[in-house]
Amino acid sequence: MCGIVGYIGQREAYNILIKGLKRLEYRGYDSAGIAMGGDNPRIYKCKGKVSDLEALVENLDFSGNIGIGHTRWATHGEPNDVNAHPHRSMNGHFIIIHNGIIENYTKLKSGLENKGYVFESQTDTEVLANLFEYFYIKEGSDPKKCVDAIRNALRIVEGAYGLLILCKDVPKQLIAAKKGSPIVVGIGDQEYFIASDASPIVEYTNSVIYLKDDDIAILSDSGLSLINLKNIPQTPNIHKLDLSLDQIEKNGFDHYMLKEIYEQPRSIRDTYRGRLNFESKFLRLGGLFNVFNDLVNADRIIIVACGTSWHAGLVGEYLFEEFTRIPTEVEYASEFRYRNPVIKKGDVVIAISQSGETADTLAAIQLAKRAGAIVLGICNVVGSSIPRETVAGVYTHAGPEIGVASTKAFTAQVTVLTMMAMAVGLANKNLTQKEFEDLVEELYLIPDKIEKILEKADYIKEIAEKVKDANNALYLGRGYLFPVALEGALKLKEISYIHAEGYPAAEMKHGPIALIDEKMPVVVLATKDPSYDKIVSNIQEVKARKGQIIAIVTEGDTVIRNLADFVIEVPACDFALSPLLTVIPLQLLSYYIAVMRGCNVDQPRNLAKSVTVE
Ligand code: F6R
Repeated sequence: MCGIVGYIGQREAYNILIKGLKRLEYRGYDSAGIAMGGDNPRIYKCKGKVSDLEALVENLDFSGNIGIGHTRWATHGEPNDVNAHPHRSMNGHFIIIHNGIIENYTKLKSGLENKGYVFESQTDTEVLANLFEYFYIKEGSDPKKCVDAIRNALRIVEGAYGLLILCKDVPKQLIAAKKGSPIVVGIGDQEYFIASDASPIVEYTNSVIYLKDDDIAILSDSGLSLINLKNIPQTPNIHKLDLSLDQIEKNGFDHYMLKEIYEQPRSIRDTYRGRLNFESKFLRLGGLFNVFNDLVNADRIIIVACGTSWHAGLVGEYLFEEFTRIPTEVEYASEFRYRNPVIKKGDVVIAISQSGETADTLAAIQLAKRAGAIVLGICNVVGSSIPRETVAGVYTHAGPEIGVASTKAFTAQVTVLTMMAMAVGLANKNLTQKEFEDLVEELYLIPDKIEKILEKADYIKEIAEKVKDANNALYLGRGYLFPVALEGALKLKEISYIHAEGYPAAEMKHGPIALIDEKMPVVVLATKDPSYDKIVSNIQEVKARKGQIIAIVTEGDTVIRNLADFVIEVPACDFALSPLLTVIPLQLLSYYIAVMRGCNVDQPRNLAKSVTVE
C-alpha cells in the first residue's frame, strides 16, 4: 500500500516521478505528492489522484535532478492535503515519504512533543521525519552524521517502513531504508531509480537491487553505498528484472482488470510452461525439489492467505484432500497469526500471495517458521518478501497484476495448487498413473477452454445490463465451486459496491434464502458435477421465491436452461479443474456491472493493491 518513487541523476526528476506515480497508483490513490531535492527543496502535495497533483504544480517550479514522490492509501489520518506525503521535519532538515506503519509512533510522538516538537499532520510519517531531525540536531547538525542520525532513529522504531529521505544539508543525496515494506533500487548510468516495486523502473533499467530488511541505501553522485542498521556495510546483490514495459501497460484495453481477465489463457500457460508436459505426461515443480519429500510426507497441510488468494487456498484444500488425502486446512492469515494455532513439526504451511508483500501473510509465515513448520510460498511477484521468507515455493508467472481486483493471479494460483496436489498425489500413490495423466491432459486444455468462455463476453455484458441496478446479490456453489462463489461475490462487491455474498448452495436454506425476492440476482455455479442434482434443487428453491437466476452451466445443459433466467455455458472439464473455468464469467460479469455503474474499476474506493499494513 502506498507507492513511493525516487530519482537521483542527471535528468529532470519531475517527469520520472509523475510517470512512476501513475504506474504505482494502484497501490494507493487518495492523495499524492512530490518533493524536489537539491539546494532549493520544495514540496507539492494534495488530496486526490496523481492527475490532481499534476494540475497543482503546472505553473510552479518543479525543476531539479533529485526528487521523491508518493501516492497514498491512508492509514494514520484522513486523506487530505496536510496528511499527504512528503512530510517535512519541523525545522526543515528532512523531507520524507513512507510506506508502512510505525507501531510505536504514539510513544515517539509524545517524546518529541515533550522536547518541543509541534506536528502539523496526524501521520506516523511526520513523527519519523521529526525523529530523524531530533537525532540529527543532537549530533550537532553535522551533515556527515546525517546517515547516523537516520540509522539511530530507525533503531528505536517499531513497525514497517519503506522510506525515501532527503536531507536539506546534504542536497545531492537520497537515502532509502527498508523494513517490512518493499524498496527496489534501479541502477542506471550514474543515476538511480527507487520505487516500491519495479513498475516505474523497468522503462529505464533492468538492473535492480531489492533492499533487505534493515538495509539503508545511500545514493549520491558518487554512487551507491549500502549499510544496515548496525552500520555494517552490505554487499548489493544486483538482479536482472524479468519484466517488460508492455506487461504493465493497458495495451488497448479500457482497464487493467479487463486486460488481465483476457490474459488468463496466456498466464495459465505461462504458469504451467516448463513444469507440465502434455506429450510425456511429465510434471515437475523445480521450486519444490528440495522439499518435495517433506510435502509428500506431511502430516498436515495448512494454507494461509488473504482475500482472493484465500479463495484460491480453499480450492487448494479440496484439491489436496482429494488428490493426496493429506489433511488440509485453509486459514485467513490474519486470524491464524493471532489465535495461537496448533502447528507441529511435520506440518507444511503454504502461504499464497499475489504481491508477496501482504503483511498478515508475512506475519503468519513468521509464526509458522517459529513453530518449526516447513513453510512454502506460492507467489506472483518475483523477488518480493514472501518468496524470501519461505524455504521453497512456486512462482505463478502470471505477469504483473495491476488491476486492484485480482483475476489472473487467482487462476494462476489455482493452477499451481492443482499441479502441487497432482504431483504429491502421484508420489504418495493416491492418484493412479492414469488419473494423473488424465489430469495433465485436462489442465493442459484449460487455456483453450477459457478462450471459448471469453468469446461470450458480449452476452455476459447483456446480463450485466439487466442486473446492474441490484443492491444485493447471492452467489451459490458446491464443492470446488463454493470457493468460486466466494470469489465471484468478492469481485462484485469490491468493484461495483453491490453487496454480495457467496454461500455453499446447501447452506442457503439455513438463512440466506430469507433474502431472496424478485430483485435479488442469484448466481448459481451449476456445472455437471457430482452434486449436479442437488444444485438443480437449489435452483428450484430460488426460482420458487422469484429470485433472478444466472446459472453457470456445462455446455449443452438443457435442464437448467429451462429454469434459469440467464445461462452462461462453460466447456466440460474435470470437476477439480472447474474453478479455473467458472470464475471467468463471474469476473466478466462484475467488470461489466462496475463499468455500467460508473465505478472506477481499476481503482475501487478504499482499496489498494498490496496490503502491506496489518
Ligand atoms: C481481491 C484482492 C485481495 C487480495 C488480498 C491478498 O480482488 O485482490 O483480496 O487477494 O489482498 O493479496 P495478496 O494475494 O497480494 O497477498
